[in-house]
Amino acid sequence: EAAEKGGYDHFMLKEIFEQPKAVKDTLSPRLNKQNDIRLDDITLTKEDLDNINRVYIVACGTAYHAGLLGKNLIQKYVNVPVIAEVGSEFRYNDPFIDNKTLMIIVSQSGETADTLAALRMAKEKGARTLAVTNVVGSTISREADDVFYTWAGPEIAVASTKAYTTQLVSMALISLDMANKKGTISNSMYHDLIDELRDTPAKIDKILDTSDEIKKLAEEIYNKDHIFYIGRGIDHDVAREGSLKLKEISYIHSEAMPAGELKHGTIALIEDGTPVIALATQDKLYDKTVSNIKEVSARGAKVIALSMLKNKEIDQSADRVIYIPNIIDDLAPIVSVVPLQILAYHVATLKGADVDKPRNLAKSVTVE
Ligand code: AGP
Repeated sequence: EAAEKGGYDHFMLKEIFEQPKAVKDTLSPRLNKQNDIRLDDITLTKEDLDNINRVYIVACGTAYHAGLLGKNLIQKYVNVPVIAEVGSEFRYNDPFIDNKTLMIIVSQSGETADTLAALRMAKEKGARTLAVTNVVGSTISREADDVFYTWAGPEIAVASTKAYTTQLVSMALISLDMANKKGTISNSMYHDLIDELRDTPAKIDKILDTSDEIKKLAEEIYNKDHIFYIGRGIDHDVAREGSLKLKEISYIHSEAMPAGELKHGTIALIEDGTPVIALATQDKLYDKTVSNIKEVSARGAKVIALSMLKNKEIDQSADRVIYIPNIIDDLAPIVSVVPLQILAYHVATLKGADVDKPRNLAKSVTVE
């Protein structure tokens, strides 16, 4: 097993560090020399896409969090309404599915019972189905009409890391390809986003270089009982993923909140020294999130902000800052989640937790 860990203490850490390569492996086979997206694995034509008037994205846990970026990008660039739902709820919420529905299923393992059941229900009702999965030959990959493999390589740690970042990249590729086929995105925006996608492995690498600094932050918070994550828009989606990562491996209670929703209840839990990890990567939401940072600070929270290098001055509002390289806002999650994975990892190891095999959890949940 030590050999399989390739010199890392845990599979999770190895998989965190494999992300630049994993993201490259997701991207490279899908980008041609002209910098266009070529999704040979997806048979959806422009006519098929024109027939679709609603998209469902269904997944569980971390895969669901990746699906939330897909929802955002498809609505913004493809101009089609998207409903994202967790697999365990989907079938019981009277979903609107017919032959004009595209069902996107996201699952690392391709075996999650609730996600599989959602796929089967959607097929039965006539939806077109597309699976985004990491495991070749998995049940979900066999049953969906189209399969998009994330090519992250085997993920052993229960806490998903490289599967998530490659799912985010997959969501971006699929959304941009749909938008390009439908003509709902400008050529320049399409190519800007592709250029940015190509740069993501290098940006992730830069964050990996700061692992020791993130460990110092972990030392400041690992003995806390509650840790909150806040953010707006897609920052909130990443906040949910950061919070899930922390609780599953460190057993610290954590909640992710839309930053603006805090004052509707949860802010009552903030007391002196409560850590709040505040994501502020989105230009259009930056000022509002900074004012939420000030609100929690005023109530004693210890704020660790996460923002882009261009927002240097955020250090005046927060106790600590994690800076990520500048990146186009829509793709920030691919990079911003990485320090949160590293933080969760270090918190858990400081607590002496069994990082790769957390209590009560299985890698793949094959019961409903
Ligand atoms: C992630 O860290 C979790 N262990 C879990 O939420 C996982 O993402 C979820 O069970 C979905 O699994 P899947 O992607 O294999 O369907």
